[in-house]
Formats: sequence, structure tokens, C-alpha cells
Amino acid sequence: TDFNTIILERKGRVGVITLNRPKALNALNSELMNEVVAAVADLEADNGIGAILITGSERAFAAGADIKEMQSKTYMDAYVEDFFTPWDRVAAARKPLIAAVSGYALGGGCELAMLCDFIIASDTAKFGQPEIKLGVIPGIGGSQRLTRAVGKAKAMELCLTGRNMDAEEAERAGLVARIVPAADLLDDALKTATTIAEMSLPIAMMAKEAVNRSFETTLAEGVRFERRVFHSTFATEDQKEGMTAFVEKRSAEFKHR
Ligand code: HXC
Repeated sequence: TDFNTIILERKGRVGVITLNRPKALNALNSELMNEVVAAVADLEADNGIGAILITGSERAFAAGADIKEMQSKTYMDAYVEDFFTPWDRVAAARKPLIAAVSGYALGGGCELAMLCDFIIASDTAKFGQPEIKLGVIPGIGGSQRLTRAVGKAKAMELCLTGRNMDAEEAERAGLVARIVPAADLLDDALKTATTIAEMSLPIAMMAKEAVNRSFETTLAEGVRFERRVFHSTFATEDQKEGMTAFVEKRSAEFKHR
């Protein structure tokens, strides 16, 4: 498939989506949104893919939703087209989704990174929700996911002042899994994604589903959900292979990848 605003590559079992509107610092316009949604659907349907990596350029992961495209929209436009809702389909991906962030991840860019399963940041990364400076509020889940990631105090401060956070602050606050030097970001993220893609895919999907459930329910219900899914792992060949490989002191060769 040919895309205009992203590059889609398959590197082994990892699908790599590179946001590619360099002149606009990868601002997320409708075309880019639709292409990311289509690329994720394509990778989800591909049995050869076990993990998805979303990245941008060294200067910008994405500097937000496209302000020039949004500028003249009316309320009716936004409501009727259900503006930004297609991004929910990326958040609903069942395969592990990793964001590799260098440079600006602002507004919709920060929100896109947060709707991935985890973020690996370069030491140049900058995160923020500056929408308030434009007279709007976050619209792709930022007010919710940032609050769950970093807590109320910092989320409120960021959403109300529009200031940016650097990579160090983002890591301290729990927004990013890890910081790596900018020059190593892609290699490191690809290595991490490959590690995940070599696991049993159904088991990785179960692990993702279980962690995500913690955002949706009480602790008691979440633990019950986990227990049931844990029990169901014993119905898989990959549980037998994983445990047999350990006992036989060899590395596991999962069947369902
Ligand atoms: C459209 C954008 C853009 C954006 C940058 N550009 N961000 N175009 N939408 N979000 C364009 C600029 O207009 C410029 O185009 C080119 O990219 C380079 O940007 P500069 O501003 O010249 O670069 P620099 O001086 O290095 O500043 C980088 C920056 C700044 C600090 C990231 O671009 C910036 O503040 N951008 C906006 C960040 C923002 O507010 N994001 C939130 C968007 S709202 P030209 O053609 O002039 O060269 C959002 C809302 C989601 O995401 C939900 C609410 C509705």
C-alpha cells in the first residue's frame, strides 16, 4: 500500500510506522490519522507481525493535531465527523504497540504516544498538552491518559499552563518506560519490539489486555479477570513449550507467534 504521510515497513516481526510530514513537524492531519489507522489494521491482520512500533523524526514525534486544518472547523463539523474518534481504533489494537519518541510530542502527539502501550523516549523528547494556549483542550484522550500516567497534580499543571516536560521529568513522573540517547532510539526501540514479537503472540495479547483492564475496573475485579486469563494460558501449546524449554535448559520456540 502507498501512503503519503507515513512510512510503513516490516522489520522481521515488527511493523514500523514512521510519521512522515517533516515540514509540519508531523502534525496529525486527517490524512495521516487515516493512514495510521489503516497501517495498524494491516499489521494487526498480518500473522507475520508480533509488535508495532510508532515513531517520528529526530526533531518531532508529532507537534500535535494539525492546527491549520482545525483552525476554521465549526462545532457542527467536529461533531458530525466525530473529529479524532478514528484514533480510538489505534488505541484498541490488540498487538503490543510501542511509541519511540524523539523531540516534540505535544498535544495530539503526546496523546498518540500515550495511547500506545508504552513509550521509549530519547533524551531530547519533550511532552506537553499545550491545547489551552490555542483555546481548546486535549481531544485524543490526553486529559485522561496523562492523569492516569502522572497523577492529578502534574496533569493539571500541564493541561492548565500548557508547559512542556523534558524526558527526565517525564520518566520521573512515570510517563515513559525508559530514556535512551537520541542516536540509539530507533535501534533500542526496535530491539525491544523484537523481543516482544518473539514471545507467544496470544500470550502477549493476554498480558496487554490484563494490564489495560487495570485502567477500567476495580482491583478485585481486575485480579479476578487476571486469574481467569492466567488459567486460560494453560490451554495453550505455548505454555507447555515455555515451561518445558525452561526445564530442559533451552530457549523457548513459541509456536503461536
Ligand atoms: C500545524 C504545525 C504544527 C501543528 C508545527 N507546525 N506544529 N502545523 N499544526 N500542530 C508547522 C509550523 O507551522 C511550521 O510550518 C513548521 O511546522 C515548523 O514549525 P515551527 O513552529 O517553525 O518550528 P519551531 O520554531 O522549531 O517550533 C516547534 C514547536 C512549534 C514548538 C513544536 O511548532 C509549536 O508550538 N507547534 C504547535 C504545538 C501545539 O500547540 N500543538 C498542539 C496542537 S493542538 P511553516 O509552514 O510555518 O514552516 C492539538 C489538539 C488535540 O494537538 C485535540 C484538541 C482539538
